[in-house]
Parts: sequence; structure tokens; C-alpha cells
Amino acid sequence: MLDREAQKAMPTARDRYTLLAQSHEAFSDNFANDVRTGLTASPKYLLCRYLYDAQGSKLFEEICHLPEYYLTRTERHILADHADEIAQLFGEEVALVELGSGSASKTRLLIEALLRHRSKLRFVPVDISLSILEESSQALLEQYREVEIAAIVGQFHDGLARLNKIVACPKLLLFLGSSLGNFERQEAIRFLELVHEVMTEKDRLLIGIDLRKHPSILEPAYDDAQGVTARFNLNLLARINRELEGNFNLAGFRHRAVYNAEAGRMEMYLDSLCDQTVPIHRLALDVHFTEGEAIHTENSYKYSLAEIGALAEAAGFGIERQWLDAEKRFSVNICRPLPK
Ligand code: TRP
Repeated sequence: MLDREAQKAMPTARDRYTLLAQSHEAFSDNFANDVRTGLTASPKYLLCRYLYDAQGSKLFEEICHLPEYYLTRTERHILADHADEIAQLFGEEVALVELGSGSASKTRLLIEALLRHRSKLRFVPVDISLSILEESSQALLEQYREVEIAAIVGQFHDGLARLNKIVACPKLLLFLGSSLGNFERQEAIRFLELVHEVMTEKDRLLIGIDLRKHPSILEPAYDDAQGVTARFNLNLLARINRELEGNFNLAGFRHRAVYNAEAGRMEMYLDSLCDQTVPIHRLALDVHFTEGEAIHTENSYKYSLAEIGALAEAAGFGIERQWLDAEKRFSVNICRPLPK
């Protein structure tokens, strides 16, 4: 038992936590404008980052536990097998940075591996959902007394822009869950170049990337039997209803996921089941849908090993380590910045 004095001296979870936030107005303005742009375009689309509000982030957590969604558990296995080896790539001083941290559940494997040989660790999670960021940070701070957190709520580029003001020591950047696959292939290169810019030669980037494979594995992963993925995708319309006073009837739309083998990507849509006009009051906009008309909501690109090599090289990285699961479904890659 700790006595009172010792308790006072021990930093509390709150003392070890800093939140860096962007203004709320900047956030919601973007949502309104981006919804208007996407739903007045032809073909219609919505940006996938808006899938992850508080509700959507919860549903995505559920997706990660689905039997069909092999990505999360496969990546977790690979990380569990190699966490110590990854931790050994760094000296005593290291900070862990995670882009799109969500619940940060796989991150724990790395936190624990890093703490096995270090007395403290700074963790910088970056996420677009404030609620999931606060929730996961609180849980980590309570579980690991040696961890200090500087959380950034915002988009990836906001996080990257602030990073070097927060972290001065060598860092391990994490980009898990094949989130890189949600960029177009050219965008993925540009994004990795941006990451490269904030890295020194001692830093490493760990990226989880889903591999090309047969549609019989891929399509169920994005359209599960319990309909969680459908609810996740439809939540985007519910969010427009909540935040922009939209009038979407969710029963009038259906989630659809197809693999485009040539492009090497899963494509996600919300299809209108009938002719309908949907008012969105805050935008003073009526959106018309014909029967069968689709809103494109996300792509999830899959990579071959050759494509991963080319991607890394194009962005100025060399692949220092690469691990796959036994079924060659998923890859975890340690990228090292090549001299500029
Ligand atoms: N980053 C995840 C992926 O591409 C996101 C995701 C999973 C997703 N299932 C989805 C996005 C369904 C839209 C619809 O694997």
C-alpha cells in the first residue's frame, strides 16, 4: 500500500496526459462542405474519413472482431510474434506515434515490448475521433504507469505537422490496419513522402498492409454475415441526419462491397433502393437518387509484395523487415528512411 505522501508524488493518469485539438468549427465546416461536394458530384461519393465519428469508430471496433475480418487478428498475430524484435531496433529513448490509433489495442503489444527494456515511454496517438482517443488514452494511462500520452485529435497531416514539436527523440511510427489501403495508390506515395519528411534516420515506420488475394476471402471481410459492416457504412448517412439535419431513410439504401481485381481494391458503396429525394436541411440541399444509384464511400487497396516494394521505394524508404502470416494474407513492414 502506498502512503499518502507517496500517492501525492506519483503522477496521476491526468498528469501524464495532454490533448492537442483543432477547433471544432474547422472540423464541422469541412464535413458540411465535403458532404455537399460529394453528393452533388457525378458519380456521388462521400469521403471515408467521415465514417469514423464516435458511433462509426465503435462499429469499426466491432468489425475488427468479426470472424470474416481477418485483417485485425492477422496483423495482431504478426505483431505479437515480432514485437520484441521491433523493440530492439531502438535504443533507450524512443517515442511511439500512431496514425489512426482507434482503440489502440494492437499497440499494446508494442508498448509492452518497448517497456520490457525501458523505464518510460511517450505515446502520441493521432485520431479523428475525440471520443475514441480519450477513451483509449485513459485506459492506457491506467494500465501503464510508465506511459505518458500526448494525443492529437485531427487528420493525419495535422498530426504529422505537429509531431516534431512534441517528440525530439527517435520514434517508431505506426500505421496499422492497412489504413494505407484507403488512399489511392498515388496518394499513398504522397502520404508516405509526407511521413518521410518528419522522420530522421533513426526513426522507423511500421506499416500493416493487406495483400492481394481471392475475392472469396476479401468480399466477406467487407460484407459480414451479421451486417455490422453494413451498419458501419450506413452510419455515414445517419451522421448526415444527426449533424446536418438530413432526412436519409436508412432502409432506402443498401451496403455493397465488391472486389475490383484489376485495380486491386475493395470498393464500398451505398446503393439507393428506389427513386428518392433526400433533403439535407443545414445544406439547403435536395439530393435526388435514381433506383440503383450508388454513393461511393470507400476503396480499400490491396498490394502485392512487389507493389509494396515499389511503394516504399517511391516514397524514399527501404524495407528493413517484412513479415507475413502463414497464409500470406497480410504484411507488416518496417520501413527505414533512405538518405534524402
Ligand atoms: N481501413 C478499413 C479497411 O479498409 C476500413 C473498413 C473496413 C471499411 N470495412 C469497411 C470501410 C467497410 C468502409 C466499409 O479494411
